[in-house]
Amino acid sequence: MRTDPLKFLSDELDSLKQQGLYRHLRILDGEQASHATFDRKSVVNLSSNNYLGLTTHPRLREASLQAVRDYGAGSGSDRTIAGTMAIHMELEKRLAAFKNVEAVVVFQSGFAANAGTVSAILSKEDVVVSDELNHASIIDGCRLSRAAIKVFPHKDVDAARAIMRELPATQRKLLITDGVFSMDGDLGALPGLCDVAEEFGAIMMVDDAHASGVFGRQGRGTIDHFNCHGRVDIQVGTLSKAIGVLGGYVAGSKAFIEFLYHRARPFLFSTSHPPAVAAACIAALDVLEQEPQWMERLWDNTKFFKAGLQRLGFNTGRSESPITPIIVGEAPKAMEMSDALFRAGVFAQGIGFPTVPRGQARLRTIVTATHSREDLQYALDALGKVGKELGVI
Ligand SMILES: Cc1ncc(COP(=O)(O)O)c(C=O)c1O
Repeated sequence: MRTDPLKFLSDELDSLKQQGLYRHLRILDGEQASHATFDRKSVVNLSSNNYLGLTTHPRLREASLQAVRDYGAGSGSDRTIAGTMAIHMELEKRLAAFKNVEAVVVFQSGFAANAGTVSAILSKEDVVVSDELNHASIIDGCRLSRAAIKVFPHKDVDAARAIMRELPATQRKLLITDGVFSMDGDLGALPGLCDVAEEFGAIMMVDDAHASGVFGRQGRGTIDHFNCHGRVDIQVGTLSKAIGVLGGYVAGSKAFIEFLYHRARPFLFSTSHPPAVAAACIAALDVLEQEPQWMERLWDNTKFFKAGLQRLGFNTGRSESPITPIIVGEAPKAMEMSDALFRAGVFAQGIGFPTVPRGQARLRTIVTATHSREDLQYALDALGKVGKELGVI
């Protein structure tokens, strides 16, 4: 009889279960909304990246439907063969104007944008200097590029400078940080890192996935928030979070974007977005520009919820954004707390190693513009009760 060559994977899964790191996929019925039905239970949803509530905004829905009527369901090809539709180009033009850069290229996801860009522009002679908490898609891009990877402690500008000082002056260098760190909600050390990049002639790159639609004027991101215009060579953003749809974009000079057309592998070798995705993203940009109330509500809710968590005595780390971690310690405790909260009608996903370091397991919460005060107060009451029962506060 043939033995199962994949048996080692079941052993791995058993080990995850023993460590409390096994994750059950919660199934969403209906819309991704601030109050939603997961696993057939109605809960206050603190787990989506739908910052502004745009996944269900009427203008995005209508734009998607109209694009399906006008252009069909799919694009039918890669961008470089027959899959560049006028609506893709229109979205890129709008994004370039929004980000105040010469050009933008859209990828299928933020993950593809990061991994595809870093791996396209670097090779094994080059070096990446990267914040230790940068996103997995940046790390994968670095690995694919085969460049040397030098990691500096989180937000430590002096450490980044010290690494740069040791590198040969002629070596090509990429200095890279997240704009907002996705598990801690703090901001990258942008102005200081821009200084370092300028000092050593490095390419400066910022992954603004969690900042687009959240920070800066009308949600233009951390480059705008820190007034670092003209100092960041490569900006990555996502269309999958605050924008409410799907995709990632890379913003920069015209020559750089044209280079990506020729060398970024997800652009060359994977089908482009359905037209409805591009249309909904364009509608989302209209909303960002014309409906400031969503960002205002997002920040009002963020302040209210954070203050409530702190009053209850939770450890919310160093968050400066709507991403507010509740740091619990060991993964089984975080998963137990997440499950107890879910039973109480609040969905806050437990996160453990390898997404965050061991001993820093947490519940990751994100409020949105569309949460009502009643929803948030209900969540705070449940968190207080469950947190006390489990000895977290
Ligand atoms: C910092 C960061 N960059 C990039 C991504 C990838 O974005 P997307 O979900 O559009 O693939 C994420 C998503 O988790 C992220 O948190």
